[in-house]
Amino acid sequence: MAQSVKGTRDLFGSELDWFQRIEDTVRRAFHRHGYSEIRTPILEEIEVFKRSVGESSDIVHKEMYDFLDKGKRHVAMRPENTAGVVRAAIQHQLLATSDPQLLYYIGPMFRYERMQAGRYRQFWQIGAESFQVSTPESEAESLVMLYDFLRELGLSQLTFSINSVGTPECRPAFHEAFRAFFRTREAEFCEDCHRRIEENPLRVLDCKNARCQAALEGHPVLVDFLDPASLEHHRRLKEILTALGLPFEENPRLVRGLDYYTRTAFEVLSTDLGAQSALLGGGRYDGLVKQLGGPQVAAFGWSIGLDRLVTLMQQLHGKAPRQAPPVLIPLGPAATLKALSLARTWWAAGLDVILETRGVKLKNALTTANRQGAPLALILGDGELEQGVVAVKDLAAGTQETWALDTVQERLADRRG
Ligand code: HAM
Repeated sequence: MAQSVKGTRDLFGSELDWFQRIEDTVRRAFHRHGYSEIRTPILEEIEVFKRSVGESSDIVHKEMYDFLDKGKRHVAMRPENTAGVVRAAIQHQLLATSDPQLLYYIGPMFRYERMQAGRYRQFWQIGAESFQVSTPESEAESLVMLYDFLRELGLSQLTFSINSVGTPECRPAFHEAFRAFFRTREAEFCEDCHRRIEENPLRVLDCKNARCQAALEGHPVLVDFLDPASLEHHRRLKEILTALGLPFEENPRLVRGLDYYTRTAFEVLSTDLGAQSALLGGGRYDGLVKQLGGPQVAAFGWSIGLDRLVTLMQQLHGKAPRQAPPVLIPLGPAATLKALSLARTWWAAGLDVILETRGVKLKNALTTANRQGAPLALILGDGELEQGVVAVKDLAAGTQETWALDTVQERLADRRG
């Protein structure tokens, strides 16, 4: 029997209920802040990711699903969507004016990762990207949207972990100091870090290897190499976060696994499930639009792993609250015809009703309705049809009453509230 591909999974039932609930909450939150949705293709030319996420990043170096298509184009299934959104914004001239562009997306991403808890090869991200905004105030606005949305989902143990990775201009001095530091203890670093120190020294700070993290003790920190404007930007962001009561801590090793960040880089850590884990990440990427062939445009954004958020919701709140609809059970051909037209009126009025169409015995139909968690069974036999009524069984209480057919719609609407 065929199985889903390793690292991918089918979404249905109560897990999907959570996905949809979170998506609804997030869409409402984003629309309140003036963001509009953008949907870009899953397939992009590989260069889009090489030139943005960076060739030295693990994502491009090790984890990309890329292949030659039948027309011999080298394409990749998107491992993230910031690069795709930037590509689309340039292609459609969304950045032609200096007005802010606020965009969001929800969709699947693909990374060929080593399998571990909470990591998938097809996973889902919700992301927000804002263009033509360069101030720390605009970052704070985006972070408030994010924080308040996570609070709306019931998460309370949240901390922003922030850093400034500076601008490309202030990095050479840092690289030099950092390479000199690295040389004093090279033997303690892993093979990957030896490659990273050549290609992109910042990646060394991000190494997951515990020995490398220990060897980093006392390393030069980026914040000491910032130009005055970047330093002021960083200071102002911290000042605003403090004033707004958004909890944050500074992490001088936070550089993130993607090459495009400038100045602010951040993650959100949650201890809602005990051990601290990163829920999401993002930052400023003022050079990326130009790097991908567009104008010089300031930009800031973040993405949340939806799969991780759903796991958190399931563990914190159990199943997503969902009210199963009542079931209408007609008995016999005449009642079924009437039931079809009644249900059609109710559906048109926006009511949820499941219609039993199998023509099975009442006992079977009630067993199914119970299994589906229906609160009510509306039973329509020839007798009820003649009298213009329906027998209504409360499946939880086991009680039964009779409703006049012309009152059912109103009563169902009242029950729904
Ligand atoms: P990222 O940190 O690579 O950033 O991914 C963001 C989030 O996606 C992670 O924090 C995690 O929750 C989730 N995620 C990543 N890989 C997996 C996986 N294999 N399985 C499950 N969840 C995963 C970005 O992708 C940037 N585009 C963020 C950004 C937007 N920066 C600026 N704008």
